[in-house]
Amino acid sequence: MTALVLESINKSFGSVDVLKDINLTVEPGEFIVFVGPSGCGKSTLLRTIAGLEDATSGRIMIGGRDVTTTPPAKRGIAMVFQSYALYPHLDVEGNMALGLKQAGEDKATITARVATAARMLSLESYLKRRPAELSGGQRQRVAIGRAIVRKPELFLFDEPLSNLDAALRMATRVEIARLHRELGASMIYVTHDQTEAMTLADRIVVLRDGRIEQVGSPMELYNDPANQFVAGFLGAPSMNFLAAAPLGAPGATLGIRPEHLRVGKEGRIRGRTTHVERLGGDTNLLVTTEAGETVTVRLFGQHPHQVDEALALDFDPRHAYGFDGKGQRLRS
Ligand SMILES: Nc1ncnc2c1ncn2[C@@H]1O[C@H](COP(=O)(O)OP(=O)(O)OP(=O)(O)O)[C@@H](O)[C@H]1O
Ligand SMILES: [Mg+2]
Repeated sequence: MTALVLESINKSFGSVDVLKDINLTVEPGEFIVFVGPSGCGKSTLLRTIAGLEDATSGRIMIGGRDVTTTPPAKRGIAMVFQSYALYPHLDVEGNMALGLKQAGEDKATITARVATAARMLSLESYLKRRPAELSGGQRQRVAIGRAIVRKPELFLFDEPLSNLDAALRMATRVEIARLHRELGASMIYVTHDQTEAMTLADRIVVLRDGRIEQVGSPMELYNDPANQFVAGFLGAPSMNFLAAAPLGAPGATLGIRPEHLRVGKEGRIRGRTTHVERLGGDTNLLVTTEAGETVTVRLFGQHPHQVDEALALDFDPRHAYGFDGKGQRLRS
């Protein structure tokens, strides 16, 4: 049985079409990440799956059941938001137990499920604290715990880490990946952070302007993007795009990832460095080509390059991508 099926989902707010013909099938236990620029419809799609928004047209199936008109509480989902909205007057235990109490679960079940969730999330020693006495990361773990205790068929996360600092984001990201392995549950996770997308997803769904641009595993999308948008969206620094006239077909664009450019005395691209970023593990060079285009070169390790140095760049054609005038991938 599939975990989730979206069939031709459309959503409009008044005259504005926000979701356009969304089709997607999620298998049980899959970790799916929705990525895309701000305003592309990620949250709207997640809220439509949750039942917090009604689709204008289309069909939603969760665990084989048609839930298109089912209220949120009966869809078998649990949602974790960016703003964790805990009850300030309840302690951690009370916050995690509340949903089960309201659903009329018996005391022993509630105690057991809260204890299990607290152990999974390393919250055992905080059970008697109130939200105000916790760090942001701990509060977010309580919000995740509140979802776990409900044993949903499908977890929905909307940017749960974006209020956390970089170190905590990374730690919590690892926690969520571990939790997914332990629970074996199906998860849909919205982010605009491509590192989160690449590291968490079994499959990534790239959205743009309310449409699905491409669906695939992180490496499929990275190595074999369907179009220039996906190619440019995944990867940091981003893929370089060159108006390919001297290098390829007229009207086409050549795409080369920064790590696939090499620096030498000879090469098909000549230019001067305009900026050098020393990151310790990597060195990024910004190079302005003779044609006036800027490219980023990513070198592994530390290199003594300076600003305003004349350089030649080259690449292995197997690592070059071609795109037509509409941004679609040219395959040859
Ligand atoms: N209730 C609403 N009424 C009208 N327009 C809305 C409503 N909710 C969202 N929108 C519009 O729908 C579009 C998609 O919004 P959505 O919140 O889904 O984007 P998002 O991809 O989650 O963006 P972000 O990364 O900024 O969270 C936006 O243009 C937004 O302005
Ligand atoms: Mg959003």
